[in-house]
Amino acid sequence: MYKLVAFDAYGTLFDVYSMSQLAEEIFPGHGQALSLMWRDRQIEYTRLVTMSDPNPNGSKYYLPFWALTIRSLRYVCKRMGLNLSAEAEKRLMDQYAKLTGFEDSLSVLQSIKQKNISTAILSNGSREMLAMVVGSNGLKPYLDKVVTVEDVRLFKTAPQAYELLLKEFPVKMEEILFVSSNAWDALAAKWYGFDVFWVNRQSHPFEEIGENPDYQGSSLTEVLGVI
Ligand code: LAC
Repeated sequence: MYKLVAFDAYGTLFDVYSMSQLAEEIFPGHGQALSLMWRDRQIEYTRLVTMSDPNPNGSKYYLPFWALTIRSLRYVCKRMGLNLSAEAEKRLMDQYAKLTGFEDSLSVLQSIKQKNISTAILSNGSREMLAMVVGSNGLKPYLDKVVTVEDVRLFKTAPQAYELLLKEFPVKMEEILFVSSNAWDALAAKWYGFDVFWVNRQSHPFEEIGENPDYQGSSLTEVLGVI
């Protein structure tokens, strides 16, 4: 029934919280808090940029996700009273560029391709950083397209971002399954009109607004059970 399975990237295929180990090495005692606050601030910046100028031709405040990721790291270090040297920033961002994939990311994409279903990433990430992380995890041969919001200069959860999938693939709305581990992303994709699989690895509650996802599971592998 589904002709395209589209994945969110950061947090869904790639483990953003794996940054906490290196952060802990650089700032002992603060790694976990830093990685959580870093992620929150990064997403906060995407929302600020998008909501402050939701122009269909792109936000005038748009900065690539890579730049927002650096700026949010700098902010959080200042906020936590941590001295982020140029060298530490480089180490953290070099690792971010090659974030570790979840253990089943590759095998799940392979299995979907074997079923002759198209695969994609739809991410807030900038083109270059996505190419790098997809490459370093060996996912490229199993992805038909890596779709980035860079083309609309509005971040998810703007509808124009989700709409990119319909522009890039000759499929109907109901033929798309969107997979995200970010509850906010799963919720907004559902609002947009996609069927949604929420990967809930940490047994979190779903959001208190909007509709529940069509499916949820504790790993990417469980997506294979619904296609
Ligand atoms: C992504 C981040 C926001 O779009 O998870 O890949």
